[in-house]
Amino acid sequence: APTTSLKIAVIPGDGIGTEVMPYGIRCLQAVAQAFNISLNFTAFNFASCEYYQKHGDMLPMDWKETLVKFDAIYFGAVGMPDVVPDNVSLWGSLLKFRREFDQYINLRPCRLMPGVRCPLIDRKPGDIDFWIVRENTEGEYSNIGGKIFEGTDRETVIQETVMTKTGVDRVLRYAFSLAQHRPRKHLTSATKSNGISITMPYWDERVHDISLSYPEVRVDKYHIDILTAHFVQKPDIFDVVVGSNLFGDILSDLGPACTGTIGIAPSGNINPDRTFPSLFEPVHGSAPDIAGKGIANPVGMIWAGQMMLQHFGYFDAASLMLQAIEAVLARGDTEVLTIDMGGKGTTQSLGEAIEKEIQAFT
Ligand code: NAI
Ligand code: MG
Repeated sequence: APTTSLKIAVIPGDGIGTEVMPYGIRCLQAVAQAFNISLNFTAFNFASCEYYQKHGDMLPMDWKETLVKFDAIYFGAVGMPDVVPDNVSLWGSLLKFRREFDQYINLRPCRLMPGVRCPLIDRKPGDIDFWIVRENTEGEYSNIGGKIFEGTDRETVIQETVMTKTGVDRVLRYAFSLAQHRPRKHLTSATKSNGISITMPYWDERVHDISLSYPEVRVDKYHIDILTAHFVQKPDIFDVVVGSNLFGDILSDLGPACTGTIGIAPSGNINPDRTFPSLFEPVHGSAPDIAGKGIANPVGMIWAGQMMLQHFGYFDAASLMLQAIEAVLARGDTEVLTIDMGGKGTTQSLGEAIEKEIQAFT
């Protein structure tokens, strides 16, 4: 683990982002104290719709110089669709961070937690525990293409998929290395080389090539259509799943959906080279429908903090934090759990229960 202090930029954003963030920080501070980790938090009010209303932009001009000095960005959620259109708020903030900071990995755990009603029948905690690694910068989400003969019978649209060797290899290496560090050492690649006849065979070829450097990792591949079926019917067979930008996008919503509520899922937008800060956030958005009521589930935010510690190599601290989340959820105290989990509790009751659980371990 690194010995220096971690500098973390805190961006709560909008809506419930601002409500869950304090509990994420409190839990991180509790675990940092226990393991003698030095975490240095600096909060920013930009990348929020309130900032936009005051300044006419989501970010200050010098946002990049400001944020690049940090090791990580701890991000709540952005969006107030009644006030600022979603494309403006998202493209003006979060998506800029992901691109400009070359966060080429999107990482999401897919883990069935205790106390969560699994939408798949007969699955219990332990049965579903895998990672989804999504390519986050190229692939199907390119701007190359165009539209001609608009409004005529010859109207034509084309959008190209871009796969570069650098881009494909770096996401595959990350996924292989993650699999290598897991007990099962199993990597599944999402493909569609039967239908998409140029880029997907290339993806498969790169998987094969890179697998030669990871002889301990068992590799298999499935076409994306049957793979989605397996997520639902046989989620226990997966350990690490890697996919292109589009396939990864679909799988990274489907996977966590198979494990219950959106309020607990975290994600990382990672620059593994550490040339730029990585960004850790809950999967959920700003939830305007429940914002201001103090009832948002803070687990996604707290778990995102856990991923951040894991990313920086604080494995013991990260594992304690995950245990604390699981212990509180497993207890199933309806006074503590939030409404989305079937409880009567609040952001505060659940957030503080996890904070106390962390403190109790020490
Ligand atoms: P959402 O995730 O904010 O909410 C979807 C549903 O899940 C809502 O009914 C909400 O109440 C519930 N929910 C979400 N998080 C919860 C939590 N922690 N505890 C309990 N219930 C929770 O997605 P939605 O409604 O599509 O988007 C709302 C706004 O958030 C939009 O402006 C959208 O653009 C933005 N958004 C931002 C994201 C980000 O910052 N990464 C991601 C997704 C959406
Ligand atoms: Mg998505």
